[in-house]
This record gives sequence, structure tokens and C-alpha cells, in this order.
Amino acid sequence: LNRIILDVDTGIDDALAILLAVKSRKLDILGITTVCGNVSLQQATDNTCKILELAGAPEIPVIAGAAGPLTRKSHYEHRVHGQDGLGGALPDPAVSKKAEEGFAPEFIVEQAKLYPGELTLIMTAPLTNLALALLKCPELPSLLKEVIFMGGVVRGHGNITPTAEYNTYADPEAARIVLHAGIEKLTQVGLDVTRQTLLNEATIERLTDPALRSYVAQSTEIYINRYEQMNGIRACALHDPLAVGVALAPELVGRKSYYVDVETASRLCDGQMVCDFQNRLGQQPNTLVCETVDAEAFLELFINALNA
Ligand code: BDR
Ligand code: CA
Repeated sequence: LNRIILDVDTGIDDALAILLAVKSRKLDILGITTVCGNVSLQQATDNTCKILELAGAPEIPVIAGAAGPLTRKSHYEHRVHGQDGLGGALPDPAVSKKAEEGFAPEFIVEQAKLYPGELTLIMTAPLTNLALALLKCPELPSLLKEVIFMGGVVRGHGNITPTAEYNTYADPEAARIVLHAGIEKLTQVGLDVTRQTLLNEATIERLTDPALRSYVAQSTEIYINRYEQMNGIRACALHDPLAVGVALAPELVGRKSYYVDVETASRLCDGQMVCDFQNRLGQQPNTLVCETVDAEAFLELFINALNA
């Protein structure tokens, strides 16, 4: 089994990513680390605990991390994820599981040292925790097997500003640290591919477990409404689950190496990811950019894992 740590700001689609990772039974999940993003750190942590209980995996450790971006103010996304981050689908109080002691960036470093060359990090949130881990342990890149992160958009438009994707926008300084850390296998899963992996209500009906189906239907309602309002399609994008999908089935995506950076000082373009497709800057490639995805195969993998 591939050893992973999943880093989340749970969030409706983070919750679906957690469900996919757990239900696939193909990943050794050493822990789930949480960060401020879609919702506050506390809310993201509580939501993660609730989802692990729903998934029947309360034994997986949850470790809280950064309570805000490196230098900026937090930017919650209640319009997309609802007040509680889960579209109101799991009302309080519904959880007995609690987070462990400890701090996510330290946990990431500890586990990387424990399993040198074996650990894959799957990041589905602003990259604050990983940036802090890299600042704390500059040799971390040489200990990691792979980092897969959901964030950025390289050809299409943004989803938080006209040009920026939410995770890179929420903590662009952290994204820059990660991109320039010298991580040998750094895979970017951006909106260019996640906007192709759409979940609609008919597909949700295919979930066989009644509790899971009802949770997914309820939690995605607000998310689907928002996606329809912005994109004219009645469905929602499986942004974060696709990052887990890439760890489970790498052949789902076509990746190409490019030099990638993130804008951190711009009035209109803050948080925008810039991919140097034609190597105009003459820099060494630092990122494997997902350029294609077999969306149908991923949707099947997702539904089959949740139905197993
Ligand atoms: C990303 O932003 C968040 O709102 C989602 O959870 C996902 O990680 C998509 O841009
Ligand atoms: Ca997320």
C-alpha cells in the first residue's frame, strides 16, 4: 500500500476526497492533516473527524496545522461550501472523534523521516502546512516520494478571481515555497483537469450505501447550485477527489513537466499560477502539470470505491 498523508481544509470536496481515500482501501493513510482554508482550522478539523466517522475509519489520526496563511488574512469560502463547510449535511453535535496532539507541519516531517522515500503527500487545500514543514526541514524534499497537490489553473480562468484558483490564491506565498523547494516529483492537479471531472445528481443516485448516498446528496446540493450558477452546468467538480485519484491510478492523467510559479504581488492577478509552456524564462522545470484526464474512468473509480 502506498503510504500517504492527506492535507485538507474540509470543505465539501475535501470530504469526498477523504471518503475516496479511505474507501479505496488502497492507501495506507498515516494521518490526515488540517489547515485553515474553506473554513477555519477548528471547523476543518471537526469536519475531518466527522467524515472519518462516517467513513467508518475513526482510527485514522487527524492532526491540526496552520490556523491561517503564512502572511495573509484567511479567506473562507462559505458561498461554495456553506457555513459549516459541509453544506449543512452533518449537523452538530455529531462527532466524538477528536484530533491528536501535535502540529501538522511537524507530523509531516516526522512521518517523512520515518518512511524515507516512501511517503506521498496529497494536498487539497492552501499549501501552508507543507510550506511550514519545508521551512522547518529543508531536506524534506529528498525524503518524499511524491507530492500531489490540487491547486492552480494554467490555461483556463480562475474560480476565486478572474485568474486565480482558490488554493493558490488563499496562500500564494506558501505555494511559491512548495514550487521552489526542489521536490523531485511534484504533481499539479489544477482546474484545467478538475473541471472535467463533474459529479451530477444522477451519478450520486448510483451510490448504494443509503447513509453515504444521503450524505453526498445533501452536502453537494449547495455546491452543485453554486457550480450551476457560475458555469451553467448542473453538477459539481471533483477537484480534491481527483488529487486522490491520481495517487490511486496515475494513468488517469497525462502529465508534462514545466516551470511553474505563482504571482504574489499583483493588483489583479494575485495567486495566479503561471506555467512557462514555452520555457521563455529558461528555468528548470519544477512541476508535473496534469494536462489531460480520463474523466469517465475517474468517475467510475470514484463511484466504485464508495460502493465497495
Ligand atoms: C479548491 O478550493 C476549495 O474550495 C476546494 O476544496 C478545492 O480544494 C478548488 O479550487
Ligand atoms: Ca480543499
